Amino acid sequence: MKRTLITGGAGYIGSITTRLIRSTGRGVVVLDTLENGHRKAVGDAPFVQGDIADTDLVEKVCREHNVDEVIHFAAYKAVGESMENPTKYFQNNVTGSQRLFDALTRAGVNRVVFSSTAAVYGTPERVPVRETDVLNCESVYAETKLMIERTLGWYSKTTDMRSVVLRYFNAAGATEDSQLGEDWRHSQNLIPHVMKALLGYAPSLKVFGNDFPTPDGTGVRDYIHVEDLAQAHVAALDHLARGGNSITCNVGTGFGTSVMQIIEATERVTGKKVPYEVVERRAGDPAECYADASLIEKTFSWSPSKSLDDIIRTAYNWHSSHPQGH
Ligand code: UD1
Repeated sequence: MKRTLITGGAGYIGSITTRLIRSTGRGVVVLDTLENGHRKAVGDAPFVQGDIADTDLVEKVCREHNVDEVIHFAAYKAVGESMENPTKYFQNNVTGSQRLFDALTRAGVNRVVFSSTAAVYGTPERVPVRETDVLNCESVYAETKLMIERTLGWYSKTTDMRSVVLRYFNAAGATEDSQLGEDWRHSQNLIPHVMKALLGYAPSLKVFGNDFPTPDGTGVRDYIHVEDLAQAHVAALDHLARGGNSITCNVGTGFGTSVMQIIEATERVTGKKVPYEVVERRAGDPAECYADASLIEKTFSWSPSKSLDDIIRTAYNWHSSHPQGH
């Protein structure tokens, strides 16, 4: 059986994608250091504990497991930490990915789906933001993702490797059965913080600014349910398996939602109050960022199937049943 190698498959998006891919009948093998991921999240899928930078290990895993395609999630992703410790991010994300691609080339694996981010646009010049718009990284984290995108671009030009780069907007929510979700101990993102405040694990949510030039003054983002995001990876694998060309796509809903709208939706869906206070803006936060998702919709016939209420409901069910984080 041919298999999909999934780096970082014990993490939040990685584990949910792994489960979905297995349900489509593909074989998988997960490679993860478990530094931030959870062994439990991989379940009974074939698993190797190790680093993407270990070229001998990656080549061996590819050969032993008959790997013919890869989804590359493994990376550090804390924006603030990347500004304090850039070396850690350049080394792990950029050098590690380059070594991974080298090992894949040696093993003859030439189809790669890469987990990138809307953070490569920085503060977008216009919304909805298109793939061809100006790239303006405002953090080391974003820069590392863009460097990996560019590295893949050069592999596509100079070898037979083909890749799909997926620029995620704001991944959120958990699986419908509450088995997999985000570890809120490792997240700085809005929805885990809303849930912490709602469930009494934090005194209140800090709303980072209500004086942005947006309808209600709070920041606007494009929240995409993690299971819809996982589905986009399956579509990307299918595209490459059909012989499709290398492509870079936004993965979002195309709709913007403000922080206040998230709070209101949470109160409506859960019937509970979210304690919050408005504080200063967080450095580097753009007012608005949401996707033009027409390219992925057209190319992969993919579109999101879940609503904002689904995101809130599944996040609430997950966090209330996993207060320890995992
Ligand atoms: C952040 C990262 C981005 C990363 C993405 C997904 C920054 C500057 N950007 O995006 O690089 O790809 O996560 O992991 O860190 N908010 C609050 N209170 C909170 C948390 C957030 O008001 O406690 C607000 C933010 O100001 C923003 C919105 O909620 O308006 C979403 O924030 P967040 O979930 O952190 O995502 P991004 O900042 O969009």
